[in-house]
Amino acid sequence: MGIPPGSGAHKAPGHPPLHPFILTLFHSFTFEPSPELPLGESRLAQGAGRRVLIVDDEPGLAEMVCRGLAGSFEAEAASCAEEALGLLASGKTYSVVLSDQEMPGMTGTELLREIQREHPETVRMLFSGYGDVDTAIRGLHEGAIFRFLMKPSSLAETRAAIEAGVLRHRRKVTFRIKRERAQFAMEAAEGFTALLEERLDQAQYATVFALARLAEERDDCTGKHLERVSMFCRELSIGLADTGHFQDEITSRFVRDIERSAPLHDIGKVGIPDSILLKPGKLTEEEWAIMRTHPQIGAETIAAIMRTDPTASFLRMGYDVALCHHEMWDGSGYGQGLVGEEIPLSARILKVADCYDALTTWRPYKKRWTHEDAIAHVVKFGGSEFDPIVAATLRRMGDRLNCLRLSLSDDIHINLKTV
Ligand SMILES: [Fe+2]
Ligand SMILES: [Fe+2]
Repeated sequence: MGIPPGSGAHKAPGHPPLHPFILTLFHSFTFEPSPELPLGESRLAQGAGRRVLIVDDEPGLAEMVCRGLAGSFEAEAASCAEEALGLLASGKTYSVVLSDQEMPGMTGTELLREIQREHPETVRMLFSGYGDVDTAIRGLHEGAIFRFLMKPSSLAETRAAIEAGVLRHRRKVTFRIKRERAQFAMEAAEGFTALLEERLDQAQYATVFALARLAEERDDCTGKHLERVSMFCRELSIGLADTGHFQDEITSRFVRDIERSAPLHDIGKVGIPDSILLKPGKLTEEEWAIMRTHPQIGAETIAAIMRTDPTASFLRMGYDVALCHHEMWDGSGYGQGLVGEEIPLSARILKVADCYDALTTWRPYKKRWTHEDAIAHVVKFGGSEFDPIVAATLRRMGDRLNCLRLSLSDDIHINLKTV
């Protein structure tokens, strides 16, 4: 049992009276056994993480408490809040800090709040006289204090409280380690999944692009058409976003997807017989009817690939591009008979890019147009054949697209054809 403060017991004649808490420690140390540790926790008593810091300005009191705790804890003393903060800042990890409330400089609650901020895993305890109860309770409510001990407390009470604090600290550390491991495992899994998805995405793209190239090569006139159209679509998309149009629709994902889906626009030509696709003269009405099925064939081809991976966004866009790339803004095109903004934006951009490249390159049935004439043509038919905003963007970005076009020209190819 503790001794009531101010009782005068153990007062030695000729010496200043001993602090009642010190007297309690003497008393408790002599007569009260250590509390039993819970089963399974006794091992903790032998292990690390039992460093505690006692903070009290009363001369000799903190050291006295430390001696009382020796054997069960690695206890250290500090005579003020500033010294305690210095010890904590030195890198040592304390499971528990037990501080007096009334000290010169920072009070106990101020110290513990600072520790809560800088060392949140350290369990904070306050011991205090009767006059400090309100402060202590406020500290408890604010979460800065795990427990407070009333002065005077017996060594057994102090030791039991610190034991509870050490266990609390151990649980906080264990929880943090588990959380960090879970986080690490989750990030590793996400990284691995992203890598797999990227590889799958690349493999899908390589396969589909090869198919698109196959379809295009049969046409015997395209050179680097697919690469240029892909590049033009990317640039036009960025240019459109810069103007403020379609800001919600044209994201970085959209730009990446259109760059990859643009080469798929004529993939449906794989289903058109050579006798029609390569026919040198004019097509009959029946042959045109068959030719006009290539958007549908292309979309169905991409849909079949998408069934193996419905999440590939460039394939979803590729489906739109293949299906709708012969639609016209005024509804006079073919495919689904769409008009205006019913036509997917990706297909409207592709149509401008595809036409610009077709006009500025040699084809068996036409000469190569100049860059200026091609731009003028697209602008002229903006609002009838083409989305007028996309056509205006082509004109605005003409110089940039012209440079890109020349960097990927089919000069060798063209020269051979024109000889
Ligand atoms: Fe086509
Ligand atoms: Fe094309």
